[in-house]
Amino acid sequence: MREAVFLQFLLGILACFIVFCANAEDPYRDYTWVVTYGTRAPLGVYQKVILINNQFPGPPIEAVTNDNIIINVINQLDEPFLVTWHGIKQRRTSWQDGVLGTNCPIPPHSNWTYKFQLKDQIGTFMYYPSTLLHRAIGGFGALNVMQRSVISIPYPAPDGEFTVLVGDWYNAGDKALKERLDSGLGLPLPDGLLINGVRRSYTFTGQRGKTYKFRITNVGISTSINFRIQGHPMTLIEVEGSHSLQELYESIDIHAGQSVAVLVELLASVKDYYIVASTRFTKPILTTTGVLRYEGSHTPASLPLPIGPTFQVHWSMKQARTIRTNLTANAARPNPQGSFHYGTIKVVRTLVLANAKAKINGKLRYAVNGISYVDPTTPLKLADWFNIPGVFKLNSIKDVPTSGPAVLGVSVFGITLHDFVEIVFQNTEAAIQSWHLDGSSFNVVGYGSGQWKPDSRKRYNLVDAISRHTVQVYPTSWTAILVSLDNKGMWNLRSQDWSKRYLGQQCYLRVWSNEKSLFTETGIPPNALRCGKAAHL
Ligand SMILES: *[C@@H]1O[C@H](CO)[C@@H](O)[C@H](O)[C@H]1NC(C)=O
Ligand SMILES: *[C@@H]1O[C@H](CO)[C@@H](O)[C@H](O)[C@H]1NC(C)=O
Repeated sequence: MREAVFLQFLLGILACFIVFCANAEDPYRDYTWVVTYGTRAPLGVYQKVILINNQFPGPPIEAVTNDNIIINVINQLDEPFLVTWHGIKQRRTSWQDGVLGTNCPIPPHSNWTYKFQLKDQIGTFMYYPSTLLHRAIGGFGALNVMQRSVISIPYPAPDGEFTVLVGDWYNAGDKALKERLDSGLGLPLPDGLLINGVRRSYTFTGQRGKTYKFRITNVGISTSINFRIQGHPMTLIEVEGSHSLQELYESIDIHAGQSVAVLVELLASVKDYYIVASTRFTKPILTTTGVLRYEGSHTPASLPLPIGPTFQVHWSMKQARTIRTNLTANAARPNPQGSFHYGTIKVVRTLVLANAKAKINGKLRYAVNGISYVDPTTPLKLADWFNIPGVFKLNSIKDVPTSGPAVLGVSVFGITLHDFVEIVFQNTEAAIQSWHLDGSSFNVVGYGSGQWKPDSRKRYNLVDAISRHTVQVYPTSWTAILVSLDNKGMWNLRSQDWSKRYLGQQCYLRVWSNEKSLFTETGIPPNALRCGKAAHL
Protein backbone atom coordinates (compact mmCIF):
# COMPACT_ATOMS: atom_id res chain seq x y z
CA MET A 1 0.00 0.00 0.00
CA ARG A 2 2.69 2.45 1.06
CA GLU A 3 4.71 1.46 -1.98
CA ALA A 4 1.73 2.17 -4.22
CA VAL A 5 1.34 5.63 -2.77
CA PHE A 6 5.05 6.24 -3.16
CA LEU A 7 4.95 5.03 -6.75
CA GLN A 8 2.04 7.34 -7.46
CA PHE A 9 4.02 10.16 -5.92
CA LEU A 10 7.00 9.36 -8.15
CA LEU A 11 4.80 9.13 -11.23
CA GLY A 12 3.27 12.44 -10.31
CA ILE A 13 6.69 14.07 -10.13
CA LEU A 14 7.65 12.46 -13.43
CA ALA A 15 4.50 13.74 -15.16
CA CYS A 16 5.10 17.16 -13.66
CA PHE A 17 8.67 17.07 -14.87
CA ILE A 18 7.69 16.17 -18.41
CA VAL A 19 4.87 18.65 -18.66
CA PHE A 20 6.34 21.66 -16.88
CA CYS A 21 10.02 21.28 -16.29
CA ALA A 22 10.77 20.19 -19.84
CA ASN A 23 9.63 23.67 -20.84
CA ALA A 24 11.97 25.29 -18.40
CA GLU A 25 14.92 25.30 -20.74
CA ASP A 26 12.91 27.14 -23.36
CA PRO A 27 13.07 30.91 -23.00
CA TYR A 28 10.33 32.90 -21.33
CA ARG A 29 8.93 36.10 -22.77
CA ASP A 30 7.05 38.32 -20.37
CA TYR A 31 4.63 41.00 -21.42
CA THR A 32 2.29 43.38 -19.67
CA TRP A 33 -0.48 44.61 -21.90
CA VAL A 34 -2.64 47.53 -20.87
CA VAL A 35 -5.83 47.48 -22.92
CA THR A 36 -7.53 50.86 -23.19
CA TYR A 37 -9.76 52.87 -25.45
CA GLY A 38 -8.09 55.58 -27.47
CA THR A 39 -8.81 57.87 -30.38
CA ARG A 40 -7.43 57.35 -33.86
CA ALA A 41 -8.55 58.25 -37.36
CA PRO A 42 -7.71 55.18 -39.47
CA LEU A 43 -9.91 56.35 -42.36
CA GLY A 44 -9.66 60.07 -41.67
CA VAL A 45 -12.57 60.14 -39.21
CA TYR A 46 -11.70 60.26 -35.50
CA GLN A 47 -13.21 57.36 -33.64
CA LYS A 48 -12.83 55.20 -30.58
CA VAL A 49 -10.35 52.34 -31.00
CA ILE A 50 -8.84 49.68 -28.72
CA LEU A 51 -5.17 50.19 -27.93
CA ILE A 52 -2.70 47.79 -26.37
CA ASN A 53 0.05 49.71 -24.59
CA ASN A 54 -1.12 52.74 -26.51
CA GLN A 55 -0.58 51.04 -29.88
CA PHE A 56 -2.94 50.49 -32.77
CA PRO A 57 -2.60 47.83 -34.11
CA GLY A 58 -1.34 46.13 -30.95
CA PRO A 59 2.37 45.40 -30.39
CA PRO A 60 3.76 42.53 -32.47
CA ILE A 61 4.90 39.43 -30.62
CA GLU A 62 8.21 38.31 -32.13
CA ALA A 63 9.07 34.90 -30.73
CA VAL A 64 10.87 31.65 -31.46
CA THR A 65 9.50 28.10 -31.62
CA ASN A 66 8.97 26.65 -28.13
CA ASP A 67 9.17 30.01 -26.36
CA ASN A 68 7.02 30.32 -23.26
CA ILE A 69 4.78 33.34 -23.46
CA ILE A 70 3.44 35.08 -20.37
CA ILE A 71 1.09 37.99 -20.97
CA ASN A 72 -0.61 39.89 -18.19
CA VAL A 73 -3.63 41.49 -19.86
CA ILE A 74 -4.95 44.47 -17.94
CA ASN A 75 -8.46 45.24 -19.10
CA GLN A 76 -9.25 48.92 -18.76
CA LEU A 77 -12.25 48.79 -21.07
CA ASP A 78 -15.80 49.12 -19.78
CA GLU A 79 -16.66 45.61 -20.99
CA PRO A 80 -15.44 42.04 -20.32
CA PHE A 81 -12.55 41.17 -22.59
CA LEU A 82 -10.49 38.24 -23.90
CA VAL A 83 -7.70 37.85 -26.42
CA THR A 84 -7.36 34.72 -28.55
CA TRP A 85 -4.11 33.55 -30.17
CA HIS A 86 -5.13 32.74 -33.69
CA GLY A 87 -3.32 29.67 -34.97
CA ILE A 88 -1.45 28.95 -31.74
CA LYS A 89 -2.31 25.35 -30.96
CA GLN A 90 -2.20 25.59 -27.15
CA ARG A 91 -1.19 21.96 -26.91
CA ARG A 92 -2.97 20.17 -24.07
CA THR A 93 -4.26 23.44 -22.71
CA SER A 94 -7.38 24.96 -24.23
CA TRP A 95 -7.41 26.84 -20.90
CA GLN A 96 -5.30 29.51 -22.61
CA ASP A 97 -7.27 29.76 -25.83
CA GLY A 98 -9.08 32.93 -24.84
CA VAL A 99 -12.57 32.31 -26.18
CA LEU A 100 -15.78 32.27 -24.16
CA GLY A 101 -16.06 28.49 -24.39
CA THR A 102 -12.75 28.05 -22.59
CA ASN A 103 -12.26 31.14 -20.44
CA CYS A 104 -14.31 33.46 -18.31
CA PRO A 105 -13.89 36.94 -19.71
CA ILE A 106 -11.57 39.32 -17.89
CA PRO A 107 -13.93 41.74 -16.14
CA PRO A 108 -13.57 45.48 -16.75
CA HIS A 109 -10.79 47.08 -14.70
CA SER A 110 -9.10 43.83 -13.78
CA ASN A 111 -6.40 41.64 -15.24
CA TRP A 112 -5.56 38.08 -16.12
CA THR A 113 -2.30 36.41 -17.11
CA TYR A 114 -2.07 34.04 -20.07
CA LYS A 115 0.70 31.44 -20.00
CA PHE A 116 1.36 29.26 -23.00
CA GLN A 117 4.11 27.71 -25.04
CA LEU A 118 4.62 28.05 -28.80
CA LYS A 119 5.23 24.32 -28.85
CA ASP A 120 6.63 23.06 -32.16
CA GLN A 121 5.15 25.98 -34.06
CA ILE A 122 6.71 28.17 -36.69
CA GLY A 123 5.20 30.84 -38.89
CA THR A 124 2.89 33.79 -39.22
CA PHE A 125 0.01 34.15 -36.79
CA MET A 126 -1.99 36.88 -35.06
CA TYR A 127 -3.96 37.69 -31.96
CA TYR A 128 -7.19 39.63 -31.49
CA PRO A 129 -10.04 40.12 -29.03
CA SER A 130 -12.61 37.31 -29.14
CA THR A 131 -15.27 39.07 -27.09
CA LEU A 132 -18.28 40.94 -28.51
CA LEU A 133 -17.16 42.96 -31.56
CA HIS A 134 -14.04 44.37 -29.94
CA ARG A 135 -11.79 43.38 -32.77
CA ALA A 136 -13.75 45.66 -35.10
CA ILE A 137 -11.99 48.56 -33.37
CA GLY A 138 -8.52 47.14 -32.70
CA GLY A 139 -6.76 45.05 -30.08
CA PHE A 140 -5.27 42.86 -32.80
CA GLY A 141 -1.65 42.37 -33.78
CA ALA A 142 0.97 40.10 -35.30
CA LEU A 143 2.35 36.97 -33.65
CA ASN A 144 5.44 35.89 -35.57
CA VAL A 145 7.24 32.69 -34.67
CA MET A 146 10.77 32.23 -36.04
CA GLN A 147 12.52 28.87 -36.32
CA ARG A 148 14.98 27.78 -33.64
CA SER A 149 18.61 28.09 -34.71
CA VAL A 150 18.99 24.30 -35.02
CA ILE A 151 16.14 24.08 -37.54
CA SER A 152 16.82 24.73 -41.22
CA ILE A 153 14.27 26.52 -43.36
CA PRO A 154 13.53 25.45 -46.93
CA TYR A 155 14.36 28.83 -48.49
CA PRO A 156 17.27 31.25 -48.41
CA ALA A 157 17.26 33.38 -45.27
CA PRO A 158 15.72 36.73 -46.19
CA ASP A 159 17.64 39.98 -45.64
CA GLY A 160 14.74 41.43 -43.70
CA GLU A 161 11.13 40.93 -42.69
CA PHE A 162 7.99 43.03 -42.93
CA THR A 163 4.69 42.42 -41.19
CA VAL A 164 1.61 43.41 -43.15
CA LEU A 165 -1.73 43.40 -41.34
CA VAL A 166 -4.42 44.06 -43.94
CA GLY A 167 -8.08 44.24 -43.16
CA ASP A 168 -11.45 45.82 -43.66
CA TRP A 169 -12.46 48.69 -41.43
CA TYR A 170 -15.72 50.21 -40.26
CA ASN A 171 -16.13 53.78 -39.05
CA ALA A 172 -19.26 52.84 -37.11
CA GLY A 173 -17.47 51.47 -34.02
CA ASP A 174 -18.01 48.20 -32.20
CA LYS A 175 -21.00 49.23 -30.13
CA ALA A 176 -22.94 50.63 -33.08
CA LEU A 177 -22.15 47.52 -35.11
CA LYS A 178 -23.25 45.33 -32.22
CA GLU A 179 -26.51 47.24 -31.86
CA ARG A 180 -27.11 46.80 -35.54
CA LEU A 181 -26.60 43.04 -35.31
CA ASP A 182 -28.68 42.82 -32.12
CA SER A 183 -31.52 44.60 -33.86
CA GLY A 184 -31.60 41.94 -36.55
CA LEU A 185 -29.61 43.53 -39.36
CA GLY A 186 -26.39 42.30 -41.00
CA LEU A 187 -23.13 44.19 -41.38
CA PRO A 188 -22.91 46.76 -44.14
CA LEU A 189 -19.98 46.92 -46.55
CA PRO A 190 -16.82 48.10 -44.77
CA ASP A 191 -15.79 51.73 -45.15
CA GLY A 192 -12.30 50.90 -46.29
CA LEU A 193 -9.23 48.72 -46.00
CA LEU A 194 -6.24 49.38 -43.76
CA ILE A 195 -2.62 48.28 -43.99
CA ASN A 196 -0.99 48.26 -40.56
CA GLY A 197 -3.67 50.56 -39.23
CA VAL A 198 -3.53 53.27 -41.90
CA ARG A 199 -5.54 53.74 -45.07
CA ARG A 200 -2.70 54.55 -47.42
CA SER A 201 1.03 54.97 -47.93
CA TYR A 202 2.26 52.68 -45.20
CA THR A 203 5.86 52.36 -46.40
CA PHE A 204 8.18 49.34 -46.34
CA THR A 205 11.76 50.26 -47.20
CA GLY A 206 14.35 47.79 -48.53
CA GLN A 207 17.60 47.75 -50.45
CA ARG A 208 17.93 46.92 -54.12
CA GLY A 209 19.35 43.43 -54.66
CA LYS A 210 18.03 42.12 -51.36
CA THR A 211 15.20 39.70 -50.57
CA TYR A 212 12.51 40.38 -48.00
CA LYS A 213 9.97 38.23 -46.29
CA PHE A 214 6.49 39.76 -46.14
CA ARG A 215 4.25 38.19 -43.49
CA ILE A 216 0.74 39.08 -44.62
CA THR A 217 -2.37 38.50 -42.52
CA ASN A 218 -5.97 39.36 -43.27
CA VAL A 219 -6.99 40.83 -39.90
CA GLY A 220 -10.37 41.96 -41.24
CA ILE A 221 -13.70 40.94 -39.80
CA SER A 222 -15.55 40.06 -42.98
CA THR A 223 -13.85 40.62 -46.30
CA SER A 224 -11.54 38.56 -48.49
CA ILE A 225 -8.70 40.50 -50.09
CA ASN A 226 -6.33 40.17 -53.00
CA PHE A 227 -2.75 41.30 -52.34
CA ARG A 228 -0.11 42.31 -54.88
CA ILE A 229 3.05 44.39 -55.27
CA GLN A 230 3.66 46.44 -58.41
CA GLY A 231 6.37 44.85 -60.58
CA HIS A 232 7.30 42.33 -57.91
CA PRO A 233 6.12 38.72 -58.09
CA MET A 234 5.95 36.95 -54.73
CA THR A 235 7.28 33.51 -53.86
CA LEU A 236 4.96 31.80 -51.40
CA ILE A 237 6.96 30.16 -48.61
CA GLU A 238 4.64 29.66 -45.66
CA VAL A 239 0.92 29.37 -44.99
CA GLU A 240 -0.24 29.53 -41.36
CA GLY A 241 2.65 27.51 -40.04
CA SER A 242 3.30 25.16 -42.97
CA HIS A 243 6.08 25.45 -45.52
CA SER A 244 4.35 25.63 -48.86
CA LEU A 245 5.47 24.75 -52.34
CA GLN A 246 7.44 27.76 -53.45
CA GLU A 247 5.30 28.93 -56.34
CA LEU A 248 5.49 32.41 -57.81
CA TYR A 249 2.35 34.58 -57.63
CA GLU A 250 1.53 37.93 -59.23
CA SER A 251 -1.25 38.35 -56.70
CA ILE A 252 -2.71 36.22 -53.97
CA ASP A 253 -6.12 35.92 -52.33
CA ILE A 254 -6.13 36.04 -48.52
CA HIS A 255 -9.43 35.42 -46.79
CA ALA A 256 -10.52 36.68 -43.38
CA GLY A 257 -8.30 35.15 -40.69
CA GLN A 258 -5.68 33.75 -43.07
CA SER A 259 -1.93 34.39 -43.16
CA VAL A 260 0.79 33.80 -45.75
CA ALA A 261 4.47 34.61 -45.94
CA VAL A 262 6.13 35.43 -49.26
CA LEU A 263 9.63 36.31 -50.41
CA VAL A 264 10.08 39.38 -52.60
CA GLU A 265 13.32 40.15 -54.42
CA LEU A 266 14.09 43.82 -54.96
CA LEU A 267 15.49 43.59 -58.46
CA ALA A 268 13.75 46.51 -60.19
CA SER A 269 15.06 50.06 -60.55
CA VAL A 270 15.41 52.26 -57.49
CA LYS A 271 12.04 53.96 -56.97
CA ASP A 272 8.76 53.47 -55.09
CA TYR A 273 6.22 50.78 -55.99
CA TYR A 274 2.61 50.38 -55.01
CA ILE A 275 1.54 47.63 -52.66
CA VAL A 276 -2.14 46.98 -53.30
CA ALA A 277 -4.87 45.26 -51.35
CA SER A 278 -8.37 45.15 -52.81
CA THR A 279 -11.53 43.45 -51.68
CA ARG A 280 -12.82 40.27 -53.32
CA PHE A 281 -16.46 39.52 -54.10
CA THR A 282 -17.76 42.93 -52.94
CA LYS A 283 -19.65 45.62 -54.76
CA PRO A 284 -18.08 48.14 -54.99
CA ILE A 285 -14.47 46.97 -54.77
CA LEU A 286 -12.48 48.73 -52.05
CA THR A 287 -8.78 49.29 -52.60
CA THR A 288 -5.94 50.49 -50.42
CA THR A 289 -2.30 51.03 -51.18
CA GLY A 290 0.99 50.94 -49.33
CA VAL A 291 4.45 51.60 -50.68
CA LEU A 292 7.50 49.43 -51.31
CA ARG A 293 10.38 51.89 -51.32
CA TYR A 294 13.87 51.12 -52.54
CA GLU A 295 16.38 52.81 -50.26
CA GLY A 296 17.58 56.01 -51.94
CA SER A 297 14.40 56.36 -54.01
CA HIS A 298 13.32 59.89 -54.96
CA THR A 299 10.65 58.72 -57.38
CA PRO A 300 7.12 58.20 -56.11
CA ALA A 301 5.18 55.14 -57.17
CA SER A 302 3.45 55.59 -60.49
CA LEU A 303 -0.01 54.65 -61.70
CA PRO A 304 -1.63 52.51 -62.92
CA LEU A 305 -2.04 50.19 -59.98
CA PRO A 306 -1.46 46.54 -60.78
CA ILE A 307 -4.84 44.98 -61.40
CA GLY A 308 -6.18 42.01 -59.51
CA PRO A 309 -9.21 39.75 -59.64
CA THR A 310 -12.48 41.12 -58.28
CA PHE A 311 -15.40 38.67 -58.56
CA GLN A 312 -13.73 35.73 -60.28
CA VAL A 313 -14.55 32.82 -57.99
CA HIS A 314 -13.09 30.23 -60.35
CA TRP A 315 -9.77 32.10 -60.43
CA SER A 316 -9.59 32.02 -56.66
CA MET A 317 -10.50 28.34 -56.39
CA LYS A 318 -7.90 27.47 -58.99
CA GLN A 319 -5.26 29.44 -57.14
CA ALA A 320 -6.25 27.82 -53.83
CA ARG A 321 -5.55 24.39 -55.32
CA THR A 322 -2.00 25.44 -56.20
CA ILE A 323 -1.23 26.23 -52.55
CA ARG A 324 0.29 22.95 -51.41
CA THR A 325 2.74 21.51 -48.93
CA ASN A 326 6.41 21.13 -49.73
CA LEU A 327 6.77 17.46 -48.84
CA THR A 328 10.54 17.59 -48.55
CA ALA A 329 10.70 20.62 -46.28
CA ASN A 330 11.25 20.49 -42.55
CA ALA A 331 8.61 21.59 -40.09
CA ALA A 332 9.25 23.29 -36.76
CA ARG A 333 10.58 20.01 -35.44
CA PRO A 334 13.49 18.23 -37.10
CA ASN A 335 11.30 15.68 -38.83
CA PRO A 336 10.04 15.88 -42.38
CA GLN A 337 6.48 17.14 -42.73
CA GLY A 338 5.99 14.71 -45.57
CA SER A 339 6.25 11.75 -43.22
CA PHE A 340 2.73 12.55 -42.05
CA HIS A 341 0.80 10.63 -44.67
CA TYR A 342 -2.60 12.09 -43.90
CA GLY A 343 -4.02 10.66 -47.14
CA THR A 344 -3.58 7.08 -45.97
CA ILE A 345 -5.19 7.42 -42.55
CA LYS A 346 -8.68 5.99 -42.15
CA VAL A 347 -11.37 8.59 -41.50
CA VAL A 348 -13.40 7.54 -38.46
CA ARG A 349 -16.00 10.28 -38.60
CA THR A 350 -17.38 12.69 -41.17
CA LEU A 351 -19.00 15.99 -40.24
CA VAL A 352 -20.87 17.82 -42.97
CA LEU A 353 -21.43 21.33 -41.67
CA ALA A 354 -23.91 23.46 -43.57
CA ASN A 355 -23.92 27.14 -42.68
CA ALA A 356 -27.14 29.00 -43.28
CA LYS A 357 -28.73 32.36 -42.74
CA ALA A 358 -31.74 32.02 -40.46
CA LYS A 359 -34.50 34.02 -38.85
CA ILE A 360 -35.04 33.20 -35.18
CA ASN A 361 -37.55 35.21 -33.13
CA GLY A 362 -37.81 37.52 -36.11
CA LYS A 363 -34.11 38.34 -36.08
CA LEU A 364 -31.20 37.56 -38.35
CA ARG A 365 -29.05 34.68 -37.11
CA TYR A 366 -26.52 32.31 -38.64
CA ALA A 367 -26.70 28.59 -38.00
CA VAL A 368 -24.62 25.46 -38.50
CA ASN A 369 -26.62 22.28 -39.11
CA GLY A 370 -29.70 24.02 -37.82
CA ILE A 371 -28.22 25.38 -34.59
CA SER A 372 -27.29 28.98 -34.02
CA TYR A 373 -24.70 29.04 -31.25
CA VAL A 374 -25.23 31.07 -28.09
CA ASP A 375 -22.42 31.37 -25.51
CA PRO A 376 -23.56 30.00 -22.14
CA THR A 377 -22.54 32.14 -19.14
CA THR A 378 -20.43 29.22 -17.90
CA PRO A 379 -17.48 28.40 -20.18
CA LEU A 380 -17.84 24.88 -21.60
CA LYS A 381 -14.36 23.99 -20.39
CA LEU A 382 -15.20 24.93 -16.80
CA ALA A 383 -18.46 22.98 -16.99
CA ASP A 384 -16.44 19.97 -18.12
CA TRP A 385 -13.79 20.34 -15.44
CA PHE A 386 -16.23 20.76 -12.56
CA ASN A 387 -18.88 18.42 -14.00
CA ILE A 388 -21.49 21.16 -13.97
CA PRO A 389 -24.69 19.85 -15.54
CA GLY A 390 -27.02 21.83 -17.75
CA VAL A 391 -24.43 23.89 -19.63
CA PHE A 392 -24.11 21.81 -22.78
CA LYS A 393 -25.13 18.45 -24.15
CA LEU A 394 -22.74 16.55 -26.39
CA ASN A 395 -23.80 16.00 -29.99
CA SER A 396 -26.97 18.03 -29.70
CA ILE A 397 -25.72 19.24 -33.06
CA LYS A 398 -25.95 16.56 -35.75
CA ASP A 399 -23.06 15.33 -37.90
CA VAL A 400 -24.97 16.15 -41.08
CA PRO A 401 -27.28 19.02 -42.07
CA THR A 402 -30.82 18.79 -40.77
CA SER A 403 -34.06 20.03 -42.24
CA GLY A 404 -36.45 22.26 -40.41
CA PRO A 405 -36.08 25.72 -38.96
CA ALA A 406 -32.90 26.74 -37.13
CA VAL A 407 -32.92 27.05 -33.34
CA LEU A 408 -30.65 28.67 -30.76
CA GLY A 409 -28.37 26.25 -28.92
CA VAL A 410 -24.99 25.29 -27.53
CA SER A 411 -23.40 23.08 -30.17
CA VAL A 412 -20.62 20.78 -29.00
CA PHE A 413 -19.35 17.81 -30.97
CA GLY A 414 -18.05 14.99 -28.79
CA ILE A 415 -14.83 13.79 -30.41
CA THR A 416 -12.59 10.99 -29.14
CA LEU A 417 -8.98 12.05 -28.67
CA HIS A 418 -6.86 11.09 -31.73
CA ASP A 419 -9.88 10.62 -33.98
CA PHE A 420 -9.10 11.32 -37.62
CA VAL A 421 -12.02 13.36 -38.89
CA GLU A 422 -13.24 14.60 -42.25
CA ILE A 423 -15.09 17.91 -42.12
CA VAL A 424 -17.01 19.19 -45.12
CA PHE A 425 -18.05 22.81 -45.02
CA GLN A 426 -21.14 23.20 -47.18
CA ASN A 427 -21.88 26.81 -47.98
CA THR A 428 -25.56 27.34 -48.68
CA GLU A 429 -25.12 31.08 -49.08
CA ALA A 430 -24.08 33.19 -52.03
CA ALA A 431 -21.45 34.82 -49.79
CA ILE A 432 -17.89 33.63 -49.25
CA GLN A 433 -17.22 31.93 -45.91
CA SER A 434 -14.05 31.63 -43.87
CA TRP A 435 -13.82 28.90 -41.20
CA HIS A 436 -11.21 28.68 -38.47
CA LEU A 437 -10.39 25.85 -36.07
CA ASP A 438 -8.60 26.37 -32.76
CA GLY A 439 -6.21 23.76 -31.36
CA SER A 440 -5.23 21.95 -34.56
CA SER A 441 -4.25 22.53 -38.14
CA PHE A 442 -5.97 20.57 -40.90
CA ASN A 443 -5.24 19.48 -44.45
CA VAL A 444 -7.42 21.19 -47.03
CA VAL A 445 -8.12 18.33 -49.41
CA GLY A 446 -10.75 19.77 -51.72
CA TYR A 447 -12.75 22.71 -52.97
CA GLY A 448 -15.76 22.26 -55.23
CA SER A 449 -18.85 24.03 -56.53
CA GLY A 450 -22.40 23.14 -55.55
CA GLN A 451 -23.31 20.29 -53.26
CA TRP A 452 -20.66 18.00 -51.78
CA LYS A 453 -21.32 14.30 -52.38
CA PRO A 454 -19.45 11.21 -51.17
CA ASP A 455 -18.32 10.94 -54.77
CA SER A 456 -16.51 14.29 -54.39
CA ARG A 457 -13.85 12.44 -52.40
CA LYS A 458 -12.46 11.08 -55.65
CA ARG A 459 -11.08 14.53 -56.36
CA TYR A 460 -9.46 15.06 -52.96
CA ASN A 461 -5.77 15.90 -52.83
CA LEU A 462 -4.51 13.09 -50.61
CA VAL A 463 -0.83 13.78 -51.21
CA ASP A 464 0.29 17.33 -50.59
CA ALA A 465 -2.72 19.38 -49.46
CA ILE A 466 -1.64 22.38 -47.40
CA SER A 467 -2.01 22.21 -43.66
CA ARG A 468 -3.51 25.38 -42.20
CA HIS A 469 -5.98 26.61 -39.59
CA THR A 470 -8.36 28.83 -41.60
CA VAL A 471 -10.04 27.97 -44.87
CA GLN A 472 -12.40 29.69 -47.26
CA VAL A 473 -15.59 28.20 -48.67
CA TYR A 474 -16.69 29.75 -51.94
CA PRO A 475 -20.26 30.93 -52.54
CA THR A 476 -22.67 27.96 -52.82
CA SER A 477 -19.67 25.62 -52.79
CA TRP A 478 -17.93 23.23 -50.44
CA THR A 479 -14.50 22.79 -48.92
CA ALA A 480 -13.28 19.54 -47.35
CA ILE A 481 -10.60 19.14 -44.69
CA LEU A 482 -9.02 16.19 -42.89
CA VAL A 483 -7.88 16.67 -39.32
CA SER A 484 -6.21 14.54 -36.73
CA LEU A 485 -7.78 15.67 -33.47
CA ASP A 486 -4.97 14.82 -31.11
CA ASN A 487 -5.10 17.87 -28.88
CA LYS A 488 -7.33 17.22 -25.90
CA GLY A 489 -9.48 20.20 -25.00
CA MET A 490 -12.48 22.31 -25.96
CA TRP A 491 -11.87 23.87 -29.34
CA ASN A 492 -13.80 26.59 -31.11
CA LEU A 493 -14.71 26.07 -34.78
CA ARG A 494 -15.94 29.40 -36.04
CA SER A 495 -16.69 31.74 -38.85
CA GLN A 496 -14.03 34.38 -39.31
CA ASP A 497 -16.78 36.65 -40.57
CA TRP A 498 -17.18 38.23 -37.16
CA SER A 499 -20.81 39.27 -37.50
CA LYS A 500 -21.74 35.73 -38.49
CA ARG A 501 -19.81 34.31 -35.57
CA TYR A 502 -21.47 36.81 -33.25
CA LEU A 503 -24.86 35.73 -34.59
CA GLY A 504 -24.25 32.02 -34.12
CA GLN A 505 -22.02 30.58 -36.85
CA GLN A 506 -19.69 28.66 -34.57
CA CYS A 507 -19.54 25.50 -32.51
CA TYR A 508 -17.08 23.59 -30.34
CA LEU A 509 -15.24 20.30 -30.69
CA ARG A 510 -14.77 18.64 -27.33
CA VAL A 511 -11.75 16.45 -27.92
CA TRP A 512 -11.80 14.01 -25.07
CA SER A 513 -10.40 10.86 -23.50
CA ASN A 514 -11.33 9.60 -20.05
CA GLU A 515 -7.70 9.25 -19.06
CA LYS A 516 -6.92 11.99 -16.54
CA SER A 517 -3.29 12.61 -17.21
CA LEU A 518 -0.96 15.53 -17.59
CA PHE A 519 0.38 13.74 -20.64
CA THR A 520 -2.84 14.48 -22.46
CA GLU A 521 -4.10 17.65 -20.79
CA THR A 522 -2.87 20.10 -18.19
CA GLY A 523 -5.00 20.85 -15.16
CA ILE A 524 -6.94 24.02 -14.62
CA PRO A 525 -4.51 26.95 -14.29
CA PRO A 526 -4.22 28.18 -10.69
CA ASN A 527 -5.31 31.65 -11.76
CA ALA A 528 -8.34 30.52 -13.82
CA LEU A 529 -11.22 32.94 -13.51
CA ARG A 530 -14.57 31.58 -12.34
CA CYS A 531 -17.91 32.74 -13.64
CA GLY A 532 -21.45 31.56 -14.37
CA LYS A 533 -22.29 28.31 -12.57
CA ALA A 534 -18.59 27.92 -11.73
CA ALA A 535 -18.43 31.27 -9.95
CA HIS A 536 -18.26 29.77 -6.46
CA LEU A 537 -16.17 26.67 -7.19
C1 LIG B 1 -2.76 41.05 -12.14
O1 LIG B 1 -1.60 41.88 -12.21
C2 LIG B 1 -0.72 41.80 -11.09
C3 LIG B 1 0.43 42.73 -11.33
O2 LIG B 1 0.01 43.94 -11.83
C4 LIG B 1 -0.24 40.40 -10.90
O3 LIG B 1 0.55 40.33 -9.74
C5 LIG B 1 -1.39 39.43 -10.80
O4 LIG B 1 -0.91 38.11 -10.76
C6 LIG B 1 -2.32 39.59 -12.00
N1 LIG B 1 -3.49 38.76 -11.82
C7 LIG B 1 -3.80 37.74 -12.64
C8 LIG B 1 -5.03 36.98 -12.30
O5 LIG B 1 -3.14 37.46 -13.61
C1 LIG C 1 10.99 22.24 -50.97
O1 LIG C 1 11.88 22.28 -49.87
C2 LIG C 1 13.22 22.03 -50.20
C3 LIG C 1 14.02 22.03 -48.92
O2 LIG C 1 13.77 20.91 -48.15
C4 LIG C 1 13.72 23.09 -51.13
O3 LIG C 1 15.07 22.84 -51.47
C5 LIG C 1 12.89 23.10 -52.39
O4 LIG C 1 13.25 24.17 -53.21
C6 LIG C 1 11.41 23.26 -52.03
N1 LIG C 1 10.65 23.07 -53.26
C7 LIG C 1 9.59 23.78 -53.59
C8 LIG C 1 9.02 23.54 -54.95
O5 LIG C 1 9.07 24.55 -52.85
